[in-house]
Amino acid sequence: MLKYFFYIFGLIVVLIVTVAGFRGQKFEKPPIEIFPDMDHQPKVKAQVPSDFYSDGRGNREPVVGTVPMGYQMPLHKPVDGSTGESSSPYTDIRFSSGVSYTDTGKMGNQWGTGLPMEVTPEFIARGQERYNISCQVCHGAAGDGAGIAGKYGLVAIANLHQQRIRDMADGEIYNTITHGKNTMMGYGDRIQVKDRWAIVAYIRALQKSQGGATINDVPSEERAKLESQNQ
Ligand code: HEC
Repeated sequence: MLKYFFYIFGLIVVLIVTVAGFRGQKFEKPPIEIFPDMDHQPKVKAQVPSDFYSDGRGNREPVVGTVPMGYQMPLHKPVDGSTGESSSPYTDIRFSSGVSYTDTGKMGNQWGTGLPMEVTPEFIARGQERYNISCQVCHGAAGDGAGIAGKYGLVAIANLHQQRIRDMADGEIYNTITHGKNTMMGYGDRIQVKDRWAIVAYIRALQKSQGGATINDVPSEERAKLESQNQ
């Protein structure tokens, strides 16, 4: 009885070694793949010709009228080859591609503070418009976290008037817009750099509007008017 067991055992060992080979042994031939998973896929390698396309080139040109992420928008030169000026109102459309404070919100390895572009009433208005498009659904028009998404079950939306966020560096808020935070997703692929800063500026204005402002924030000529009204 035991004899047969040894025969069968020996046979199984020989079979396994034939199929699987010794560990570390070098093969000249491709290995036997029992589960190939997705190891082999038809694909085009960079800079290699391909019969698939009629022009014989593997590399494709970017689709006309599109701009790869991280690249600068071609300014004032319409991509369709026409000679007219571009009608785009922006002259600086960019998604973060560098390591500067403007792109990352970081100065060295800490969050920096201060807006890296001029803050004008138009800039804040642009921030308000962008905030209302991208952030209001969750954070609410007043920034109190009471946007419509909360009513549909999204929990723990940050109230932007918390002292913690008032004290937060501008760069960290910028980074939250770019990369998101915990359950908030990032908007870096859809809000361009300048608009992210415009939103930061607008959030600061919102925070001031909700109890963070003092008389010193009022420009001096307006302050005089207010003071004369109060008397
Ligand atoms: C889909 C809902 C949603 C949208 C849209 C959204 N947020 Fe948030 N946001 C959240 C949630 C949820 C949190 C809390 C995340 C956490 O748990 O820390 C948060 C947190 C934050 C914080 C605090 C981060 C911290 O460090 O605690 C800031 C600042 C912020 N959001 C800004 C924005 C801005 C600016 C926009 C628009 C560009 C935006 N959010 C869009 C859901 C959203």
